[in-house]
Amino acid sequence: MTDRIRLDGKIALVTGAAGVIGTATMKLLAARGACIVAVDRDAEALKHAVAGLPDHAETLAILADVTREDDVAGYVGHALGKFSRIDVFYNNAGIEGEIAPIVRTSLEAFRRVLDVNVVGVFLGLKHVLPVMLKQNTGSIVNTASIAGLIGSPDIAAYSASKHAVIGLTKSAALECAGTGVRVNCVCPGLIDSRMLSSIIEGRNPGNAPIPNERIVERIPARRLGHAAEVASVVAFLASDEASYVTGSAYTVDGGRTAS
Ligand SMILES: NC(=O)c1ccc[n+]([C@@H]2O[C@H](COP(=O)([O-])OP(=O)(O)OC[C@H]3O[C@@H](n4cnc5c(N)ncnc54)[C@H](O)[C@@H]3O)[C@@H](O)[C@H]2O)c1
Repeated sequence: MTDRIRLDGKIALVTGAAGVIGTATMKLLAARGACIVAVDRDAEALKHAVAGLPDHAETLAILADVTREDDVAGYVGHALGKFSRIDVFYNNAGIEGEIAPIVRTSLEAFRRVLDVNVVGVFLGLKHVLPVMLKQNTGSIVNTASIAGLIGSPDIAAYSASKHAVIGLTKSAALECAGTGVRVNCVCPGLIDSRMLSSIIEGRNPGNAPIPNERIVERIPARRLGHAAEVASVVAFLASDEASYVTGSAYTVDGGRTAS
């Protein structure tokens, strides 16, 4: 029997590839046999992330800003130019934005978060879906967040943007009904990462660091998650093991949103 969780020969395009979750996911997809197209706007970090991939992995690194439609069309065109197809699209680039209550959030800061987290995800869908629909096969995974399922003080723009990602995911899944293209999203909880530290510090500026026990006290698993644990769910959704899964929002949160 073939191993349906393997991704041998599949072409996987990952945005936000230089970040903590993007890098962990690229590594796992490559370890399962996928060729990787790594997209990020940070040149140095992208170079570093790609250098950490397994030696056997065929890789293409592309510098692009996901908020610019010509960049998005460009990364899709480059991926097709090298590999002729896109089987897996991890639409993952995102920012936390400024950490502040709504009354102290500038319109510019609010729009910036929506631009990357919503417009970036929309543009990715807009340009990758035609490729997959033509192939009549493909799996897209967007990165939402548990902040897309519940409210979150001081990161309202981020929370609103991630609610929108879930809406985009479900709508895209329905638009692909009856085709071989599936669209899902993951909703990571508190992942041990730069972004989480930035949010925690932003909520508590100038004060002593909050002890880890306090940060994890509302997480049933009593610990932070690891980027590799998000990657595992993305790899599952990318694979043929998830052949009947579409339009779903998978929490990876140690039970944080279970109650
Ligand atoms: N870290 C967490 O705890 C957590 C929890 C829930 C959801 N998420 C989501 O997971 C995703 C990845 O987060 P992360 O923790 O790896 O963050 P990160 O900051 O480590 O990585 C994000 C990456 O996206 C890139 N990026 C940002 N804006 C871009 C743009 N306009 N064009 C191209 N690339 C851009 C950055 O350069 C960076 O490499 C994000 O969508 C984030 O909202 C993270």
